Amino acid sequence: MQAFKARIKQDGLVLTTEVLKVDSFLNHQLDTQLLVQMGQEFAGYFGAQKKITKVVTVETSGIAIALTTAIALGVPVVFGRKHKSLVTDKDVYSAPVFSFTKRMMNRVTIAKKLLNQDENVLIIDDFLAHGETILGLAAIIKQAGANLVGVGVAIEKVFQGGGDKLRASGLNVYALARIKKLILPDQIEFDE
Ligand code: G4P
Repeated sequence: MQAFKARIKQDGLVLTTEVLKVDSFLNHQLDTQLLVQMGQEFAGYFGAQKKITKVVTVETSGIAIALTTAIALGVPVVFGRKHKSLVTDKDVYSAPVFSFTKRMMNRVTIAKKLLNQDENVLIIDDFLAHGETILGLAAIIKQAGANLVGVGVAIEKVFQGGGDKLRASGLNVYALARIKKLILPDQIEFDE
């Protein structure tokens, strides 16, 4: 998606050769108009293939883009929780997710009553790095017996291999920007 890639070129900061900072428009401050366009792009791509009934993401940074996608599709969003709250259901599907970035294990949960076996689910997230988060969500969707239609990510860091791993397992993955290489200071190579 050209507008999104242009914004990454303009405002993305190469923090290390592994990590891109996009917190001025994607995961701290949110560029609402851009997020609406990104949601429409995902909805157009996946909605043309199958009637999606639910968008699934994980807290925190996936929620905004999952929301704009779900609005464009006219369906609800469910976000996996990483933290227990006072109102967390006991009856949940769950999967362990290892975060390479944070070097820690999270257990992601979704209440069973929010995912049914007759659903066509689209996963949306901001970053695809090693693919651990998406695999965790896919495991939860499988536990529910629902159909996983595809995976939409804003930024795929191609060099970390998650996209290849997911595609090799048969998943339909669509990235709005694919980054081949991050070079210090502030050079971003896209996989066109
Ligand atoms: P993986 O799920 O694909 O295996 O990726 P990884 O463990 O590396 O990512 C863990 C967290 O770090 C995710 O957020 C992901 O969005 C974020 N992340 C990964 N690569 C980058 C990057 O290059 N830049 C930025 N800004 N974030 C990155 P999270 O733990 O779910 O955190 P949050 O959504 O609660 O903020």
